[in-house]
Amino acid sequence: MGIDTEETNLSGIRYSLSKRDSRVIWHPFTQHQIAPLPIPIVRGEGAYLFDIQGKRYLDLISSWWVNLYGHAHPEIARAIYQQAQRLEQVIFAGFTHEPAVELAETLLTILPPKFGKIFYSDNGSTAVEVALKMAYQYWRNQGELQRRRFIAFQGGYHGDTFGAMAVGKSSKFFDHFADCFFSVDFSPYPMTWWDDATIVQKEQAALTWLSDYLSCHASEIAALIIEPLVQGATGMRMCRPQFLQELECLAQRYQLLVIYDEVMTGFGRTGEFFACQKAKTFPDIICLAKGLTGGFLPLAVTVCREFIYQAFLREDFQGALAHSHSFTANPLGCAAGLASMRLLQDNYTSQQLKMIETVHQESLWQLVTRGLIEKPRYCGTIAAFALSQSIDYGSLHSQHWQSRFMEQGLLVRPLGNVIYLMPPYCIREEDLRAAYATIETVIKRG
Ligand SMILES: Cc1ncc(COP(=O)(O)O)c(C=O)c1O
Repeated sequence: MGIDTEETNLSGIRYSLSKRDSRVIWHPFTQHQIAPLPIPIVRGEGAYLFDIQGKRYLDLISSWWVNLYGHAHPEIARAIYQQAQRLEQVIFAGFTHEPAVELAETLLTILPPKFGKIFYSDNGSTAVEVALKMAYQYWRNQGELQRRRFIAFQGGYHGDTFGAMAVGKSSKFFDHFADCFFSVDFSPYPMTWWDDATIVQKEQAALTWLSDYLSCHASEIAALIIEPLVQGATGMRMCRPQFLQELECLAQRYQLLVIYDEVMTGFGRTGEFFACQKAKTFPDIICLAKGLTGGFLPLAVTVCREFIYQAFLREDFQGALAHSHSFTANPLGCAAGLASMRLLQDNYTSQQLKMIETVHQESLWQLVTRGLIEKPRYCGTIAAFALSQSIDYGSLHSQHWQSRFMEQGLLVRPLGNVIYLMPPYCIREEDLRAAYATIETVIKRG
């Protein structure tokens, strides 16, 4: 198949595969009327992706935040291959298998001690759906039928299925569906950045709102859900651990169930294995996905404390959690997850996490001192800052910026006017520093 000469894609290169794609494929979160043609990627290695013409891109967003240890990592690839030769899939109601049990055991070992059970599903949105259903039915199973509302945070995003959209309504991605959502109330969220002189007031305002709200409505609440430390999709909006600690005190006072959506923050992203550890807080339910398999296969878990599981045990099916997916606990996914967890606990990974955070800190500081960026912030391997101009999500203007980065061989995908970096842990220090230098050049050019 020859190179197409009529259409261009993001990096300004012409491809026939892109054209074939546009005839048959509808892409996610894409306005096809204005989007450039997609770039065909033929292989990945370490932190790099290679397109059909051999051009390489440094994957600074870990391919939508899933890839932890680099592309085509041989240990994960081998684990999947070996598992595929033994057992590729089995119904998970009434059956089990070694990789699922071992992965659940491993997760419960590396998570904080208070968790009891692992419920498998297959992506971040479903991990959130399961968490919401668990919390809702937990109360119903105990006769507390009035607990029908959820609390979420302004600017939160939890996925694209209906329950996840309802608690992520304030992200503004889902306005078309607003009539279909169940009841959710949204607390102010105290987003912060370096030298943010107003953070204490913002935290106080959020806690006051919550406190006032709970003093009237606590007995109607099924659960509170939050992306701990970093709200991802709405612009890497960070909050302080102190806020999560205060939130925990409130939740304890009002006996709230607390769900941490760690779909993005899980598995080292914040510098610790989990954001709850970094914040020194203990939610009742945690949602994990994305990095669980190191970015190889779709797999997710909803982790709950034992008392929640116990509330579902009865002699009839009515009390059970009616939730499953055809591929629940897929053995290949679990084998990938186990390999991924081994890599996560490797010394090399912890050194890389520290290195990435240091480079983020130093490089952001340079961009700040040169007056090029606003609201700089970082948390572990996640760094973000704002450009001074306003840029709408997914607009032509936003595509302009993405194209400038792609031309320079950097996979950067702005969220509105926010530029963020969340590289795979295998990235070399010199590559990350060079990427920041290129970003600086691109920003200066505008
Ligand atoms: C915090 C958070 N929760 C849930 C999701 C949904 O995950 P998925 O895209 O795997 O459904 C995402 C995806 O970006 C996320 O960032």
